Amino acid sequence: MDMDRPETDGRRIVRQVIGGKSVAASSGSEIDVVCPSDGLVFASIPASDAEDVDRAVRAAAAAFETGPWPRMPAVERGRLLTRLCHLVEKNGDELAALESRDTGKPARQGKADVAATLRYYEFYGGAADKIHGDTLPFLDGYTALTLREPHGVVGGIIPWNYPLQILARVAGAALAMGNTLVIKPAEDASLTAVRMAELAREAGFPDGVFNVVTGYGGEAGAALSAHPLVDYVTFTGSPATGTAIQQAAALNNRGVTMELGGKSPQIVFADADLDKALPVLVNAIIQNGGQTCSAGSRVLVERPVYEAVASALAERFARLVAGPHDADLDLGALINPRQKARVAGMVADAEKAGIPVLARGAIRPDVRAGGYYFAPVLFGTVDPSATIAREEVFGPVLTLFSFDGEEEAVRLANGTDYGLVAGIWTKDGARQHRMAKRVRAGQVFVNGYGAGGGIELPFGGFKRSGHGREKGFEALYDMSATKTIVFNHG
Ligand code: NAI
Ligand code: MG
Repeated sequence: MDMDRPETDGRRIVRQVIGGKSVAASSGSEIDVVCPSDGLVFASIPASDAEDVDRAVRAAAAAFETGPWPRMPAVERGRLLTRLCHLVEKNGDELAALESRDTGKPARQGKADVAATLRYYEFYGGAADKIHGDTLPFLDGYTALTLREPHGVVGGIIPWNYPLQILARVAGAALAMGNTLVIKPAEDASLTAVRMAELAREAGFPDGVFNVVTGYGGEAGAALSAHPLVDYVTFTGSPATGTAIQQAAALNNRGVTMELGGKSPQIVFADADLDKALPVLVNAIIQNGGQTCSAGSRVLVERPVYEAVASALAERFARLVAGPHDADLDLGALINPRQKARVAGMVADAEKAGIPVLARGAIRPDVRAGGYYFAPVLFGTVDPSATIAREEVFGPVLTLFSFDGEEEAVRLANGTDYGLVAGIWTKDGARQHRMAKRVRAGQVFVNGYGAGGGIELPFGGFKRSGHGREKGFEALYDMSATKTIVFNHG
C-alpha cells in the first residue's frame, strides 16, 4: 500500500488513487482508521471534500472521453479484469487480513470475501466480450440494430460491511462495459478499496479508469452523487442515505442502482428437513455479525414445529461466541460504536416491549475493552408490527414468528417494506413453486439460503430494498444503455 511514511507509532498513512496517482486530500485532512476488535487506530486515510471528488470525476471523465478505455476491444478490457483477478489471488492473504482488521470480521470471512472478489473479476473479465446488441425487424429498405454502450463515469458509493465484494460487483460490471469509475468507499472501511485501485494500476488499467476517493459520506459521498459529470450512480447502504443520493442524482437526471438492505424471511414448514435447515438459519443471521444486507433476520415457523425449532435455535444461540477477528470465532465486533449503540438500542426497546429473549450468545471474556462487541440475541415470537419485526437491525439479532399454513406464511413474509431475499424450507415440491412465486423478494432460495458470493445470480430488491439489478449478466445491462441505429438504404 502506498504510504508517505510510517509514523513513529507505526500508524500507516494511506493515500487515495486519483488519475493513477496516490494522493492526499487537497485539504490535508485525515480520518483515523480503527480496528473494531480493539478500537485502536492503526492507519489514516484522506478526508476528501468536494474538491478532491471533482478532481477524481474529471480524471474519470477524461479517461472516458479521450482515453483508450471505452474504445478498447471488449476482449482487451476483459483481459485487464482477468489480470486484476489474478492480482487479487496473488495478494489474497494481504487483502483478507486487511479487510478483517478494518472491519472486525472473522479471518475466515475475510478469506471468503477475497474468494468472492476474485470471482467477480473473473466472471466480468470473461463476460466483457459476450454481451451484444440485436438486429431488429423494421420497415423494408431499412436496417435497424442496437449497441450496448457505457454510461460514461460511474460513481459508486460503497458500504463498510463487505467492502471488497461490493466494490468488485460494481467495478466488475461497470468496467466490463467500458465505463470509468469513481469509488467512494465507507469511511469505516476504505483500505481494501484503495488497495484495489493500486492493484488496478499494477494490472495496467489506464490512468483515470479506476479512481478511489476516501472521505465522509456527507462530504465526499454527497459531492460524488451530485457531480454533474457523473453519468450513473450506484449505491449499497441504508434506505435514508439511498434517498439522499437519489435526490442528488436527480438534480442531474442521472440513473441509479440502489441496494438498500432487507428484513429477509426464512420460512420453515412442518415437513422441512430441520437438521439441514438449523445451521443455515443460524449462519444467515450470524455471518458478518448480522451486518449483511441479505441477512435472514426473520424466521417464520409453521406451528407444529415451532417449539422444536425455537428450542433448537436457542441451544445454538447460547453457544455462539463473539471475539477478535484473528481469533476467528462465530462472529467479530460490530463496525463502530454507533452501530453497536443502534443494535443495543433496538434490542433494549424490544425487551422493554415485552418480547421474550430465548437465548443470548457470549462475548469472549478476554476481549479488549475498546472493541465493539455485541452478544447475539434470539427473540421469541414477535408481533409483526413491532419495530424489531419490521426494521433492519444490522446486527446478530434474530426474531421468530409462528404461522398456520401457506396464506399466513406469505402474509408474514411480505409484511415488511423490504423485499431482498427469502428462504423456503419444505419437501413439498408444489409448495416450493407456489411459495417461491408468491414471496416478494429479489432472490428466493429453496431448502438453502444465501449465495455465498453467487456472482452469476442477479441480485437486487423489491419495494424499499431498492431497484436495479447487480451480479450476473443483468448488471451489465444496468451498467450500459441501448443505442438504436437505423440505416435507410431504400
Ligand atoms: P450509510 O448508508 O449512511 O453508508 C453507506 C455509504 O454511504 C458510506 O460509504 C457512506 O460514507 C455513504 N454516505 C453516507 N451519507 C451519504 C450522503 N449523504 N451522500 C452520499 N453518500 C453518503 O450507512 P451507515 O450510516 O454506515 O449505517 C446505518 C445503517 O445502514 C446500518 O445500521 C444498516 O441498517 C444500514 N446499512 C445497510 C447496508 C447494506 O448492505 N444494505 C450497508 C451499510 C449500512
Ligand atoms: Mg475500520
